[in-house]
Amino acid sequence: MPSLHPPCIFILEKLQLSSHSHSTDIFHKGKKRKGKKTAFGSTDMMSIRRRNLFSRITLLLFGFLACFTSSEAAIKKYQFYIQVKNVSRLCHAKPIVTVNGMYPGPTIYAREGDRVLVNVTNHAQYNMTIHWHGLKQYRNGWADGPAYITQCPIQTGNSYTYDFNVTGQRGTLWWHAHILWLRATVYGAIVIMPKQGTPFPFPQPDREQTILFGEWWNSDVEEVEKQGNQMGLPPNMSDAHTINGKPGPLFPCSEKHTFAMEVELGKTYLLRIINAALNDELFFAIAGHSMTVVEVDAVYTKPFTTEAILITPGQTTTVLVQANRVPGRYFMATRPFIDVPIPVDNKTATAILQYKGIPNTVMPALPQLPAPNDTAFALSYNQKLRSLNSPQFPANVPLKVDRKLFYTIGLGKDSCPTCINGTRLLASLNNISFVMPKVGLLQAHYFNTKGVFTTDFPDKPPTPFNYTGAPLTANLKTSQGTRVSKIAFNSTVELVLQDTNLLTVESHPFHLHGYNFFVVGTGVGNFDPAKDPAKYNLADPVERNTVGVPTGGWTAIRFRADNPGVWFMHCHLELHTGWGLKTAFVVEDGPGPDQAVLPPPSDLPPC
Ligand code: C2O
Repeated sequence: MPSLHPPCIFILEKLQLSSHSHSTDIFHKGKKRKGKKTAFGSTDMMSIRRRNLFSRITLLLFGFLACFTSSEAAIKKYQFYIQVKNVSRLCHAKPIVTVNGMYPGPTIYAREGDRVLVNVTNHAQYNMTIHWHGLKQYRNGWADGPAYITQCPIQTGNSYTYDFNVTGQRGTLWWHAHILWLRATVYGAIVIMPKQGTPFPFPQPDREQTILFGEWWNSDVEEVEKQGNQMGLPPNMSDAHTINGKPGPLFPCSEKHTFAMEVELGKTYLLRIINAALNDELFFAIAGHSMTVVEVDAVYTKPFTTEAILITPGQTTTVLVQANRVPGRYFMATRPFIDVPIPVDNKTATAILQYKGIPNTVMPALPQLPAPNDTAFALSYNQKLRSLNSPQFPANVPLKVDRKLFYTIGLGKDSCPTCINGTRLLASLNNISFVMPKVGLLQAHYFNTKGVFTTDFPDKPPTPFNYTGAPLTANLKTSQGTRVSKIAFNSTVELVLQDTNLLTVESHPFHLHGYNFFVVGTGVGNFDPAKDPAKYNLADPVERNTVGVPTGGWTAIRFRADNPGVWFMHCHLELHTGWGLKTAFVVEDGPGPDQAVLPPPSDLPPC
């Protein structure tokens, strides 16, 4: 937490509210109108403006005095009303759960070092939690958001304020509902600007734009999921992918549901791309324009230029695009990457990059996307991602490892007499399918409540096998439990995630809460502990919070466990999370006075 004393916080709040729209304009010139809509302090702002000049000057003077010795951190306040709204896409209208009636939801703007307060008031019929995906939440799991991991949900009619600092991170992240499948419609971008006076480590763009990929179902998403669970089968796949909530003109009734971005010849644009889809890894390309990747998951990368990007659910990718082609209209397009014969929603969503002055009657050209099963593109693209690793932004890769973990990823079956095949699908880590507790794990850990979870999650699979050999279907003996791994404070951890052929191989985007990690190695086939570590990249591996484990392959990540608390780790395919492809790390408190989990906030929702 910042070392601000209470009067200082109060003053900064007021200053922030009265300057919010201004800062929005500076950084989001291209979105002026939108910026005003998303400035949630707006009602507060007006009341502040109505204050008489005298009190404002007094506040300012007092503010400078009170804050003179403090950091320059500001407070950014947002109000999220969870509310149901009717939305129509693909000729189907349905009520969806939204934040403030927006789909996608509002963007959170902050600056590195800021404190952010988001008050969430739940007016929907579902219980709700919001996760700030990729924010480290140092000692502050109470603001992380995964339901029953760090908090009990906000019940209908109740509120909870997520209160967190943005420390040591800058770039693009996002937020989403972290309960049921509600993140299908409850999600939005987080933009963290670098500290005042610190430029980007790449050419300053003229404008920027958030680009969020999502999935749309014509039916009610919670019903779709419920049906799947009742049958023990995967729920119906989505009916469309979307770009900023819109599928684009290749879908019926979608002419008016097409996102268009106007560009000016000669200008450079920063696109903050977020994959908020539930179940699909996606390729993305822009006709006629290449992209320069400069940042992923709020960590700067060595810039590289590419015709297409690959982005898994949970990941963000920030790219520079130059509007330097013959002025016209160009499609931006996204569609899934899937290199196993598993059915997916393979339809292409489009948006339009439109040069200023070009009439809407000009037909845009489609970009060339990699083939849906282009494994080679996926592997080589991921190889190109490297930490910037500059003196200012070093890659502090743990070189020595205290704790080695090896987790196998598998699918499995459980008997289910009421299901269609008498079985239901589940998913497991080290052959353990995670069972959600009834109270938050973080509370149980903090208050030392027994009987909620066990800390006996195994460091490696009980019996090694040929992980990626012929498909294993019989006798999987998958067990179920709320089992987590205890990690010593500040120890360095290496985790190898190994995909297996339990039922089928498939690629899995793994997300760790509370941390970034370094992706030190990856490969196809079985991980070889004797040979593979020699090939690790310990110099400039990409640092991120979500990584795709390749189909029938493995990925090795490293991190320093310096953030005490209970941190969820799971596959970011909602389908697999729901089936139990998840666990958590309990990172113990450190010895220092500021190395322990903070006390819970007083408004933490009860179960
Ligand atoms: Cu973006 Cu636990 O999720």
